[in-house]
Amino acid sequence: MASIDYESRIPNNVDLAHDRRLQRALEKWQPAFLDWWQTMGPEGFQTKDVYLRTAVSTEAGGWANFGHVKMPDYRWGIFLSDQEQDRVIPAGDDAGKPVWQDVPGEYRNLLRRIIVTQGDTEPASVEQQRWLAQTAPSLQDMRNLFQVNVEEGRHLWAMVYLLHAHFGRDGRDEADDLLARRAGDEDKPRILEAFNQPCPDWLSFFCFTTFMDRDGKYQLGSLAESAFDPLSRTCRFMLVEEAHHLFVGESGVERIIRRGAQLTKEDPNGNARALGGIDLPTIQKWINYWFCYSIDLFGGEISSNASEYFAAGLKGRWAEAKDFTEHSALDQFYTMPVIKDGKVTTEEVPLRNAMNEVLRDSYIGDCERVMRRWNKALQDEGLDFVMKLPSSRFFRRQGIYAGHHFNPEGEIITAEEFAAHADTWLPTDDDREYVQGLMHPVYEAGKVANWIAPPTRGINRQDLEFEYVRL
Ligand SMILES: [Fe+2]
Ligand SMILES: [Fe+2]
Repeated sequence: MASIDYESRIPNNVDLAHDRRLQRALEKWQPAFLDWWQTMGPEGFQTKDVYLRTAVSTEAGGWANFGHVKMPDYRWGIFLSDQEQDRVIPAGDDAGKPVWQDVPGEYRNLLRRIIVTQGDTEPASVEQQRWLAQTAPSLQDMRNLFQVNVEEGRHLWAMVYLLHAHFGRDGRDEADDLLARRAGDEDKPRILEAFNQPCPDWLSFFCFTTFMDRDGKYQLGSLAESAFDPLSRTCRFMLVEEAHHLFVGESGVERIIRRGAQLTKEDPNGNARALGGIDLPTIQKWINYWFCYSIDLFGGEISSNASEYFAAGLKGRWAEAKDFTEHSALDQFYTMPVIKDGKVTTEEVPLRNAMNEVLRDSYIGDCERVMRRWNKALQDEGLDFVMKLPSSRFFRRQGIYAGHHFNPEGEIITAEEFAAHADTWLPTDDDREYVQGLMHPVYEAGKVANWIAPPTRGINRQDLEFEYVRL
Protein backbone atom coordinates (compact mmCIF):
# COMPACT_ATOMS: atom_id res chain seq x y z
CA MET A 1 0.00 0.00 0.00
CA ALA A 2 2.75 2.41 0.96
CA SER A 3 4.59 2.18 -2.33
CA ILE A 4 3.61 4.46 -5.17
CA ASP A 5 2.80 3.41 -8.72
CA TYR A 6 4.93 5.68 -10.92
CA GLU A 7 4.24 3.70 -14.11
CA SER A 8 0.81 5.27 -14.62
CA ARG A 9 0.29 8.68 -16.14
CA ILE A 10 -0.87 9.81 -12.72
CA PRO A 11 1.39 8.47 -9.98
CA ASN A 12 -0.74 7.17 -7.13
CA ASN A 13 -1.07 4.78 -4.25
CA VAL A 14 -4.86 4.50 -4.49
CA ASP A 15 -4.93 1.75 -7.12
CA LEU A 16 -6.23 4.13 -9.74
CA ALA A 17 -5.72 1.51 -12.48
CA HIS A 18 -8.67 -0.42 -11.06
CA ASP A 19 -11.09 2.47 -11.29
CA ARG A 20 -11.08 3.29 -14.99
CA ARG A 21 -13.81 5.94 -14.81
CA LEU A 22 -12.01 7.87 -12.12
CA GLN A 23 -8.69 7.43 -13.89
CA ARG A 24 -10.15 8.78 -17.13
CA ALA A 25 -11.73 11.75 -15.36
CA LEU A 26 -8.47 12.65 -13.67
CA GLU A 27 -6.52 12.16 -16.90
CA LYS A 28 -8.85 14.73 -18.42
CA TRP A 29 -8.14 17.18 -15.61
CA GLN A 30 -4.36 16.60 -15.80
CA PRO A 31 -3.66 18.66 -18.98
CA ALA A 32 -5.71 21.53 -17.54
CA PHE A 33 -3.56 21.40 -14.41
CA LEU A 34 -0.35 21.41 -16.47
CA ASP A 35 -1.66 24.30 -18.49
CA TRP A 36 -2.43 26.18 -15.26
CA TRP A 37 1.09 25.41 -14.00
CA GLN A 38 2.66 26.77 -17.17
CA THR A 39 0.64 29.98 -17.12
CA MET A 40 0.27 30.63 -13.37
CA GLY A 41 3.18 28.67 -11.87
CA PRO A 42 6.66 30.12 -11.32
CA GLU A 43 7.46 32.74 -13.96
CA GLY A 44 10.51 31.58 -15.92
CA PHE A 45 12.82 28.67 -14.98
CA GLN A 46 10.35 26.07 -16.24
CA THR A 47 12.99 24.53 -18.50
CA LYS A 48 15.70 24.54 -15.81
CA ASP A 49 16.80 21.54 -13.77
CA VAL A 50 15.82 21.96 -10.13
CA TYR A 51 16.98 19.75 -7.26
CA LEU A 52 13.59 18.57 -6.00
CA ARG A 53 12.34 15.82 -3.77
CA THR A 54 9.56 13.55 -4.95
CA ALA A 55 7.57 11.23 -2.71
CA VAL A 56 8.39 7.58 -3.45
CA SER A 57 6.49 6.02 -0.56
CA THR A 58 4.14 7.25 2.11
CA GLU A 59 5.90 5.38 4.89
CA ALA A 60 7.36 7.52 7.65
CA GLY A 61 10.93 8.54 6.79
CA GLY A 62 12.53 7.47 3.52
CA TRP A 63 9.64 8.75 1.43
CA ALA A 64 11.53 11.37 -0.52
CA ASN A 65 13.73 10.90 -3.54
CA PHE A 66 16.01 13.81 -4.51
CA GLY A 67 17.19 14.63 -8.00
CA HIS A 68 17.34 17.35 -10.64
CA VAL A 69 14.05 17.65 -12.54
CA LYS A 70 12.37 20.27 -14.67
CA MET A 71 9.31 21.49 -12.81
CA PRO A 72 6.78 20.60 -15.53
CA ASP A 73 8.14 17.02 -15.36
CA TYR A 74 7.52 16.78 -11.61
CA ARG A 75 5.43 13.68 -10.89
CA TRP A 76 2.33 15.22 -9.34
CA GLY A 77 0.06 12.51 -8.10
CA ILE A 78 -2.30 11.11 -5.51
CA PHE A 79 -0.78 9.91 -2.28
CA LEU A 80 -2.74 8.99 0.81
CA SER A 81 -1.31 7.85 4.11
CA ASP A 82 -1.98 4.19 4.79
CA GLN A 83 -5.39 3.21 6.05
CA GLU A 84 -5.43 2.76 9.79
CA GLN A 85 -7.02 -0.54 10.83
CA ASP A 86 -10.33 -0.16 12.69
CA ARG A 87 -10.06 3.61 12.86
CA VAL A 88 -12.99 5.19 14.70
CA ILE A 89 -14.49 8.67 14.51
CA PRO A 90 -12.32 10.78 16.81
CA ALA A 91 -14.81 13.47 17.86
CA GLY A 92 -18.40 14.65 18.01
CA ASP A 93 -21.75 12.95 18.44
CA ASP A 94 -20.58 9.71 16.79
CA ALA A 95 -17.15 9.51 18.42
CA GLY A 96 -16.08 5.87 18.70
CA LYS A 97 -18.14 4.60 15.74
CA PRO A 98 -16.36 3.37 12.58
CA VAL A 99 -15.10 6.08 10.22
CA TRP A 100 -16.77 6.63 6.83
CA GLN A 101 -15.17 5.43 3.62
CA ASP A 102 -17.89 7.20 1.62
CA VAL A 103 -19.50 10.59 2.06
CA PRO A 104 -22.81 10.40 3.96
CA GLY A 105 -25.56 12.15 1.97
CA GLU A 106 -26.40 14.60 4.75
CA TYR A 107 -22.83 15.93 4.92
CA ARG A 108 -22.14 16.00 1.22
CA ASN A 109 -22.42 19.76 0.79
CA LEU A 110 -20.53 20.61 3.96
CA LEU A 111 -17.66 18.26 3.12
CA ARG A 112 -17.45 19.48 -0.43
CA ARG A 113 -17.26 23.07 0.82
CA ILE A 114 -14.50 22.17 3.29
CA ILE A 115 -12.46 20.38 0.62
CA VAL A 116 -12.91 23.15 -1.95
CA THR A 117 -11.93 25.85 0.54
CA GLN A 118 -8.78 23.97 1.52
CA GLY A 119 -8.03 23.07 -2.10
CA ASP A 120 -8.35 26.68 -3.24
CA THR A 121 -5.48 27.83 -1.01
CA GLU A 122 -3.00 25.48 -2.69
CA PRO A 123 -2.91 26.92 -6.23
CA ALA A 124 -3.54 30.39 -4.75
CA SER A 125 -0.21 30.38 -2.93
CA VAL A 126 1.62 29.29 -6.10
CA GLU A 127 0.03 32.23 -7.91
CA GLN A 128 0.95 34.64 -5.12
CA GLN A 129 4.57 33.49 -5.25
CA ARG A 130 5.00 33.20 -8.99
CA TRP A 131 7.36 36.16 -9.50
CA LEU A 132 9.70 35.51 -6.59
CA ALA A 133 12.32 33.41 -8.37
CA GLN A 134 13.24 36.51 -10.38
CA THR A 135 14.68 38.01 -7.18
CA ALA A 136 15.85 34.87 -5.33
CA PRO A 137 18.54 35.69 -2.74
CA SER A 138 20.34 32.40 -3.52
CA LEU A 139 19.96 29.26 -5.60
CA GLN A 140 19.12 27.27 -2.50
CA ASP A 141 16.31 29.67 -1.66
CA MET A 142 15.08 29.50 -5.23
CA ARG A 143 15.05 25.74 -5.02
CA ASN A 144 13.12 25.86 -1.74
CA LEU A 145 10.56 28.18 -3.32
CA PHE A 146 10.09 25.73 -6.20
CA GLN A 147 9.86 22.77 -3.83
CA VAL A 148 7.10 24.51 -1.91
CA ASN A 149 5.37 25.43 -5.19
CA VAL A 150 5.37 21.94 -6.69
CA GLU A 151 4.12 20.49 -3.42
CA GLU A 152 1.30 23.03 -3.20
CA GLY A 153 0.48 21.85 -6.71
CA ARG A 154 0.40 18.30 -5.37
CA HIS A 155 -1.86 19.38 -2.50
CA LEU A 156 -4.24 20.64 -5.14
CA TRP A 157 -4.12 17.17 -6.69
CA ALA A 158 -4.92 15.69 -3.28
CA MET A 159 -8.11 17.73 -2.95
CA VAL A 160 -9.07 17.26 -6.59
CA TYR A 161 -8.79 13.50 -6.15
CA LEU A 162 -11.29 13.63 -3.29
CA LEU A 163 -13.64 15.80 -5.34
CA HIS A 164 -13.46 13.47 -8.34
CA ALA A 165 -13.62 10.25 -6.37
CA HIS A 166 -16.43 11.14 -3.96
CA PHE A 167 -18.54 14.03 -5.25
CA GLY A 168 -19.56 13.04 -8.78
CA ARG A 169 -20.47 15.73 -11.27
CA ASP A 170 -20.40 18.54 -8.66
CA GLY A 171 -16.93 17.48 -7.61
CA ARG A 172 -15.64 17.56 -11.18
CA ASP A 173 -17.08 21.06 -11.67
CA GLU A 174 -15.44 22.23 -8.45
CA ALA A 175 -12.13 20.73 -9.60
CA ASP A 176 -12.36 22.75 -12.80
CA ASP A 177 -13.16 25.92 -10.84
CA LEU A 178 -10.05 25.41 -8.70
CA LEU A 179 -8.05 26.09 -11.86
CA ALA A 180 -10.22 29.01 -12.93
CA ARG A 181 -9.98 31.33 -9.91
CA ARG A 182 -6.88 33.52 -9.59
CA ALA A 183 -5.17 35.02 -6.55
CA GLY A 184 -5.86 38.74 -6.42
CA ASP A 185 -8.15 38.74 -9.48
CA GLU A 186 -11.03 41.21 -9.21
CA ASP A 187 -13.53 39.08 -11.08
CA LYS A 188 -12.48 35.58 -10.06
CA PRO A 189 -10.58 35.89 -6.80
CA ARG A 190 -9.48 33.02 -4.59
CA ILE A 191 -11.99 32.16 -1.85
CA LEU A 192 -10.07 33.41 1.21
CA GLU A 193 -8.92 37.03 1.37
CA ALA A 194 -5.45 36.21 2.67
CA PHE A 195 -4.83 34.24 -0.52
CA ASN A 196 -5.51 37.28 -2.63
CA GLN A 197 -2.79 39.37 -0.98
CA PRO A 198 0.35 40.03 -3.01
CA CYS A 199 3.55 38.34 -1.90
CA PRO A 200 6.04 40.51 -3.78
CA ASP A 201 9.26 40.17 -1.76
CA TRP A 202 11.20 37.44 0.03
CA LEU A 203 10.51 38.74 3.53
CA SER A 204 6.85 38.31 2.64
CA PHE A 205 7.54 34.84 1.25
CA PHE A 206 9.27 33.68 4.42
CA CYS A 207 6.53 35.22 6.60
CA PHE A 208 3.97 33.56 4.33
CA THR A 209 5.54 30.12 4.72
CA THR A 210 5.91 30.69 8.47
CA PHE A 211 2.34 31.84 9.12
CA MET A 212 0.08 30.89 6.21
CA ASP A 213 1.57 27.44 5.70
CA ARG A 214 1.34 26.96 9.46
CA ASP A 215 -2.31 27.87 9.28
CA GLY A 216 -2.45 25.15 6.61
CA LYS A 217 -0.81 22.74 9.02
CA TYR A 218 -3.50 23.34 11.64
CA GLN A 219 -6.37 23.20 9.14
CA LEU A 220 -4.98 19.92 7.79
CA GLY A 221 -4.50 18.67 11.34
CA SER A 222 -8.14 19.37 12.11
CA LEU A 223 -9.18 17.55 8.90
CA ALA A 224 -6.84 14.66 9.68
CA GLU A 225 -9.26 14.05 12.60
CA SER A 226 -12.21 13.82 10.22
CA ALA A 227 -14.70 10.96 10.25
CA PHE A 228 -14.40 10.92 6.45
CA ASP A 229 -11.41 8.61 6.29
CA PRO A 230 -10.13 9.39 2.76
CA LEU A 231 -9.93 13.08 3.78
CA SER A 232 -8.11 12.17 6.96
CA ARG A 233 -5.57 10.01 5.12
CA THR A 234 -5.02 12.66 2.44
CA CYS A 235 -4.38 15.34 5.04
CA ARG A 236 -2.02 13.17 7.04
CA PHE A 237 0.25 12.79 4.05
CA MET A 238 0.00 16.48 3.17
CA LEU A 239 1.16 17.27 6.71
CA VAL A 240 4.38 15.37 6.06
CA GLU A 241 5.12 17.63 3.08
CA GLU A 242 4.02 20.74 4.97
CA ALA A 243 6.82 20.38 7.53
CA HIS A 244 9.43 21.46 4.98
CA HIS A 245 7.40 24.55 4.04
CA LEU A 246 7.37 25.61 7.67
CA PHE A 247 11.11 25.00 7.92
CA VAL A 248 11.69 27.20 4.86
CA GLY A 249 9.68 30.02 6.44
CA GLU A 250 11.04 29.82 9.97
CA SER A 251 14.67 29.52 8.92
CA GLY A 252 14.23 32.18 6.23
CA VAL A 253 12.92 34.84 8.62
CA GLU A 254 15.55 33.83 11.15
CA ARG A 255 18.31 34.43 8.58
CA ILE A 256 16.90 37.89 7.74
CA ILE A 257 16.71 38.69 11.46
CA ARG A 258 20.30 37.57 12.02
CA ARG A 259 21.59 39.64 9.13
CA GLY A 260 19.49 42.62 10.21
CA ALA A 261 20.97 42.32 13.71
CA GLN A 262 24.54 42.00 12.38
CA LEU A 263 24.19 45.10 10.21
CA THR A 264 22.57 47.02 13.08
CA LYS A 265 25.70 46.34 15.13
CA GLU A 266 28.03 47.14 12.24
CA ASP A 267 26.55 50.54 11.43
CA PRO A 268 27.86 53.33 13.70
CA ASN A 269 24.31 54.67 14.08
CA GLY A 270 22.76 51.24 14.50
CA ASN A 271 20.89 51.61 11.24
CA ALA A 272 20.78 48.33 9.32
CA ARG A 273 19.27 50.07 6.30
CA ALA A 274 22.39 52.20 5.90
CA LEU A 275 24.26 48.96 5.13
CA GLY A 276 21.58 47.50 2.87
CA GLY A 277 19.93 45.29 5.45
CA ILE A 278 16.38 45.01 6.74
CA ASP A 279 16.08 46.65 10.14
CA LEU A 280 14.38 44.78 12.95
CA PRO A 281 11.34 47.08 13.35
CA THR A 282 10.60 46.56 9.65
CA ILE A 283 10.77 42.78 10.05
CA GLN A 284 8.38 43.10 13.01
CA LYS A 285 5.89 44.94 10.78
CA TRP A 286 5.94 42.11 8.23
CA ILE A 287 5.39 39.60 11.05
CA ASN A 288 2.41 41.63 12.29
CA TYR A 289 0.89 41.83 8.84
CA TRP A 290 1.12 38.15 7.88
CA PHE A 291 0.32 36.82 11.33
CA CYS A 292 -2.90 38.85 11.41
CA TYR A 293 -3.92 37.64 7.97
CA SER A 294 -3.21 34.06 9.01
CA ILE A 295 -5.40 34.19 12.11
CA ASP A 296 -8.35 35.44 10.06
CA LEU A 297 -8.26 32.05 8.33
CA PHE A 298 -9.53 30.16 11.36
CA GLY A 299 -13.05 31.54 11.00
CA GLY A 300 -15.38 33.25 13.48
CA GLU A 301 -14.54 33.08 17.19
CA ILE A 302 -18.10 32.09 18.04
CA SER A 303 -19.42 29.92 15.26
CA SER A 304 -22.42 27.66 14.81
CA ASN A 305 -20.70 26.21 11.72
CA ALA A 306 -17.73 25.18 13.82
CA SER A 307 -20.11 23.53 16.28
CA GLU A 308 -21.86 21.66 13.49
CA TYR A 309 -18.57 20.47 11.94
CA PHE A 310 -17.39 19.18 15.29
CA ALA A 311 -20.70 17.53 16.21
CA ALA A 312 -20.81 15.75 12.85
CA GLY A 313 -17.22 14.59 13.13
CA LEU A 314 -16.18 16.43 9.98
CA LYS A 315 -13.34 18.16 11.83
CA GLY A 316 -11.61 17.65 15.13
CA ARG A 317 -9.30 19.63 17.35
CA TRP A 318 -5.54 19.52 16.80
CA ALA A 319 -4.42 15.98 17.82
CA GLU A 320 -7.99 15.16 18.87
CA ALA A 321 -7.53 11.38 18.94
CA LYS A 322 -4.10 11.52 20.59
CA ASP A 323 -4.29 14.38 23.09
CA PHE A 324 -7.91 14.41 24.28
CA THR A 325 -9.82 11.87 26.35
CA GLU A 326 -13.19 13.62 26.24
CA HIS A 327 -14.41 13.88 22.65
CA SER A 328 -17.97 15.20 22.88
CA ALA A 329 -17.07 18.75 24.00
CA LEU A 330 -20.56 18.99 25.49
CA ASP A 331 -21.37 20.78 28.77
CA GLN A 332 -18.04 22.58 28.60
CA PHE A 333 -17.31 26.24 28.08
CA TYR A 334 -14.61 28.43 26.62
CA THR A 335 -13.84 31.78 28.21
CA MET A 336 -13.83 34.10 25.21
CA PRO A 337 -12.62 37.70 25.19
CA VAL A 338 -15.47 39.67 23.61
CA ILE A 339 -16.27 43.35 23.09
CA LYS A 340 -19.15 44.83 25.10
CA ASP A 341 -19.93 48.54 25.34
CA GLY A 342 -16.58 49.38 23.77
CA LYS A 343 -14.59 47.32 26.29
CA VAL A 344 -12.84 43.95 26.20
CA THR A 345 -14.57 41.59 28.61
CA THR A 346 -15.12 37.82 28.65
CA GLU A 347 -18.02 35.55 27.95
CA GLU A 348 -18.57 31.84 28.53
CA VAL A 349 -19.16 30.23 25.14
CA PRO A 350 -20.27 26.59 24.68
CA LEU A 351 -17.07 24.78 23.74
CA ARG A 352 -18.38 23.42 20.45
CA ASN A 353 -19.14 26.96 19.28
CA ALA A 354 -15.58 27.97 20.17
CA MET A 355 -13.83 25.26 18.14
CA ASN A 356 -12.34 27.75 15.68
CA GLU A 357 -10.81 29.58 18.61
CA VAL A 358 -9.53 26.33 20.14
CA LEU A 359 -7.71 25.52 16.90
CA ARG A 360 -6.47 29.12 16.67
CA ASP A 361 -5.04 28.77 20.19
CA SER A 362 -3.10 25.65 19.18
CA TYR A 363 -1.78 27.57 16.18
CA ILE A 364 -0.80 30.63 18.22
CA GLY A 365 1.05 28.44 20.71
CA ASP A 366 3.09 27.07 17.83
CA CYS A 367 3.77 30.62 16.53
CA GLU A 368 4.99 31.61 19.99
CA ARG A 369 7.52 28.79 19.84
CA VAL A 370 8.74 30.22 16.52
CA MET A 371 9.07 33.67 18.09
CA ARG A 372 11.20 32.21 20.89
CA ARG A 373 13.46 30.69 18.26
CA TRP A 374 13.81 34.03 16.46
CA ASN A 375 14.43 35.88 19.71
CA LYS A 376 17.11 33.34 20.59
CA ALA A 377 18.78 34.26 17.29
CA LEU A 378 18.64 37.93 18.27
CA GLN A 379 20.19 37.11 21.63
CA ASP A 380 22.93 35.10 19.91
CA GLU A 381 23.72 38.17 17.83
CA GLY A 382 23.96 40.21 21.04
CA LEU A 383 20.92 42.45 20.55
CA ASP A 384 18.26 43.07 23.14
CA PHE A 385 15.54 43.74 20.57
CA VAL A 386 12.62 41.36 21.11
CA MET A 387 10.20 40.28 18.35
CA LYS A 388 6.60 39.97 19.52
CA LEU A 389 3.54 38.22 18.21
CA PRO A 390 0.69 40.73 18.14
CA SER A 391 -2.56 39.98 19.95
CA SER A 392 -5.05 37.93 17.94
CA ARG A 393 -7.39 40.96 18.15
CA PHE A 394 -4.98 43.29 16.36
CA PHE A 395 -5.69 44.26 12.71
CA ARG A 396 -8.51 41.78 12.13
CA ARG A 397 -10.79 41.81 9.14
CA GLN A 398 -12.92 38.80 10.14
CA GLY A 399 -14.73 37.71 13.27
CA ILE A 400 -15.91 39.49 16.40
CA TYR A 401 -12.91 41.84 16.65
CA ALA A 402 -13.16 43.14 13.10
CA GLY A 403 -14.67 46.62 13.05
CA HIS A 404 -12.95 47.56 16.33
CA HIS A 405 -9.42 48.86 16.72
CA PHE A 406 -6.75 47.32 18.92
CA ASN A 407 -3.09 47.93 19.54
CA PRO A 408 -0.67 44.98 19.15
CA GLU A 409 -1.12 44.26 22.87
CA GLY A 410 -4.83 43.67 22.21
CA GLU A 411 -6.12 46.75 24.06
CA ILE A 412 -9.06 48.47 22.46
CA ILE A 413 -8.25 51.92 21.03
CA THR A 414 -10.01 54.48 18.88
CA ALA A 415 -9.79 54.63 15.10
CA GLU A 416 -7.77 57.85 15.49
CA GLU A 417 -5.28 56.21 17.82
CA PHE A 418 -4.94 53.31 15.43
CA ALA A 419 -4.38 55.63 12.47
CA ALA A 420 -1.80 57.60 14.43
CA HIS A 421 0.26 54.46 15.13
CA ALA A 422 -0.43 52.30 12.09
CA ASP A 423 2.85 53.36 10.46
CA THR A 424 4.86 51.90 13.32
CA TRP A 425 2.86 48.64 13.44
CA LEU A 426 2.27 47.72 9.80
CA PRO A 427 4.32 48.02 6.59
CA THR A 428 4.10 51.47 5.03
CA ASP A 429 4.46 52.19 1.33
CA ASP A 430 7.97 53.44 2.05
CA ASP A 431 8.86 50.22 3.88
CA ARG A 432 7.56 48.14 1.00
CA GLU A 433 9.47 50.23 -1.48
CA TYR A 434 12.64 49.89 0.58
CA VAL A 435 12.35 46.11 0.90
CA GLN A 436 11.42 45.77 -2.77
CA GLY A 437 14.51 47.79 -3.65
CA LEU A 438 16.70 45.14 -2.01
CA MET A 439 15.28 42.34 -4.10
CA HIS A 440 17.97 41.57 -6.65
CA PRO A 441 18.67 38.01 -7.70
CA VAL A 442 21.82 36.19 -6.63
CA TYR A 443 22.20 33.28 -9.02
CA GLU A 444 25.80 32.25 -8.34
CA ALA A 445 26.01 28.90 -6.52
CA GLY A 446 27.04 29.38 -2.87
CA LYS A 447 26.46 33.16 -2.88
CA VAL A 448 23.73 34.88 -0.86
CA ALA A 449 22.19 38.37 -0.98
CA ASN A 450 23.53 40.92 1.50
CA TRP A 451 20.27 41.36 3.45
CA ILE A 452 19.98 37.70 4.51
CA ALA A 453 22.38 35.42 6.38
CA PRO A 454 23.48 32.27 4.52
CA PRO A 455 21.57 29.07 5.27
CA THR A 456 23.17 27.02 8.04
CA ARG A 457 23.05 23.85 5.95
CA GLY A 458 22.25 22.58 2.51
CA ILE A 459 19.34 20.47 1.31
CA ASN A 460 19.56 16.70 1.66
CA ARG A 461 23.13 16.99 3.03
CA GLN A 462 24.40 18.75 -0.08
CA ASP A 463 26.76 21.62 0.60
CA LEU A 464 25.90 25.29 0.22
CA GLU A 465 27.83 25.55 -3.07
CA PHE A 466 25.71 22.83 -4.64
CA GLU A 467 23.95 23.78 -7.87
CA TYR A 468 20.39 23.60 -6.57
CA VAL A 469 19.07 25.09 -9.79
CA ARG A 470 21.01 24.71 -13.05
CA LEU A 471 20.59 28.00 -14.84
FE1 LIG B 1 -0.43 23.04 0.94
FE1 LIG C 1 2.47 24.48 2.33
